[in-house]
Amino acid sequence: MQLGMTVHQDFDQIAASAESTKDSQQVLRQLSQAMGKCVACHATYQIRTVQ
Ligand code: HEC
Repeated sequence: MQLGMTVHQDFDQIAASAESTKDSQQVLRQLSQAMGKCVACHATYQIRTVQ
């Protein structure tokens, strides 16, 4: 829940940066950091079939 909410906040900040800066590298860095959370959560919580 906490991790998921921080992802929402990250994307709000990414949107704000995209509007306020012309530095696309900065926005891409923010996107990359936020997507690290996608990977972290999806790697941790998985449904696996048993052989
Ligand atoms: C806090 C944990 C968490 C985070 C962070 C998270 N996800 Fe998920 N994601 C889930 C869970 C749990 C589901 C399964 C939801 C369901 O059962 O419908 C899901 C489902 C999905 C699906 C649908 C998969 C399918 O097969 O239907 C996509 C696509 C997805 N997430 C992408 C992302 C992306 C992109 C991000 C980052 C921006 C992200 N997720 C961040 C937990 C997370």
